[in-house]
Amino acid sequence: MASKIRLGILGGGGDSLIGVLHRVAAAMYDQYEIVGGVFNPNWEENIGFAEKIGLPTNRIYKDFDTLIVEETKLPVSERMQVVSVLTPNFLHFPMAKKLLENGFNVICEKPMTITYEEAIILQETLKLANTVFAVTYTYTGYPMVRQMREMIANGEIGEVQKIDAQYYQGWINPIIHDKEKRSTTWRLNPEKSGISCCIGDIGTHAFDMIEYVTGLKVNAILADLNYVYDDNKMDVDGTVLIRCSDTTKGVIRTSQIATGEENNFTVQVYGKKAGLKWAQENPNYLYLLEDGKPLRVLKPGHSYNSEISLDGTKLPPGHPEGIFDSMGNIYKGVASAIRKEQYDHMEFPTIIDGVRGMNFIEKAVESHQKGNIWVTLDD
Ligand SMILES: NC(=O)c1ccc[n+]([C@@H]2O[C@H](COP(=O)([O-])OP(=O)(O)OC[C@H]3O[C@@H](n4cnc5c(N)ncnc54)[C@H](O)[C@@H]3O)[C@@H](O)[C@H]2O)c1
Repeated sequence: MASKIRLGILGGGGDSLIGVLHRVAAAMYDQYEIVGGVFNPNWEENIGFAEKIGLPTNRIYKDFDTLIVEETKLPVSERMQVVSVLTPNFLHFPMAKKLLENGFNVICEKPMTITYEEAIILQETLKLANTVFAVTYTYTGYPMVRQMREMIANGEIGEVQKIDAQYYQGWINPIIHDKEKRSTTWRLNPEKSGISCCIGDIGTHAFDMIEYVTGLKVNAILADLNYVYDDNKMDVDGTVLIRCSDTTKGVIRTSQIATGEENNFTVQVYGKKAGLKWAQENPNYLYLLEDGKPLRVLKPGHSYNSEISLDGTKLPPGHPEGIFDSMGNIYKGVASAIRKEQYDHMEFPTIIDGVRGMNFIEKAVESHQKGNIWVTLDD
């Protein structure tokens, strides 16, 4: 029996949104053991949270720099093998870079950095480190998203001719319309979040999803963003036209002021023969649309699904699996890569996806600021 992969965690404390998702995902396939980390910059909250979730406290460090110093003193057989970076965006780059420079594998939340320049530097650092680097575009782990990708790759819908991704939320309404609140949340602070809020936070999920399921690259975009108030420097809504080629085009529609919406993330891809539709709030249903035929609904766990889709399903059909399972599948792929076992490169997003995501964010803001013009993404 292989020993568990020693996992460290940065951020993701009891006050965070995303921490529990990573902890559950890491436990899901019995591949990881959390051995320590820094959950919170406040020591009392940091150590208090570690105690609350039953972790030994000897490897809970007061800050990130201490983690690096103390962990690298340990023999390789005891040292953390991989560290998950779950802090606010501006800390991803300094933390991930130093982790790579010290030989750690890294699982990094999205957006990967706060600038495209940082993303490129991280990519160069990874080349030297030669470790595993995953970016948690969580939704790519869903079995029916993987199925959608396989069906498009196998030509089942024919040549792609129209793409539509929507990510609508309404959570920022009470913040954006309150002058005090909109000036204090880190997500609307460019120094902590990067130059974009809506496109950076959820537009980047939609962009990655489009490239993941279609296997195509978006090469040009035109963005129209909405900042709502003059004193707000960050977009909270945006529509982006996309071109993959002269004949394959589409749209990314994103909003955090879509009142009443929760996580209404959908992706629709139409080929010459058929269309496929998937919705995050109902993730176990993949809709197949064909001219002159009844609508078909594909579901996880059935033998008609592809190997990579079935690999991400743990229970017999009819047992709903969700966002925890999706992230669990990404952690599973990363575990195989760390163990140098065979795995499909579509099992987890890599630094390439992280770099493209940062390029997309910056180009969307550039397009908007230059008067809603077409801009080209880097290859
Ligand atoms: N993959 C997804 O679908 C998804 C969803 C939500 C958030 N995220 C990403 O996850 C990251 C965190 O988002 P969140 O919503 O959990 O944020 P949050 O503000 O809810 O939590 C951030 C956590 O980081 C901790 N932290 C802050 N500074 C730290 C430091 N110097 N050292 C250690 N810990 C520190 C805080 O104490 C807190 O526990 C962001 O980059 C966000 O974009 C991704």
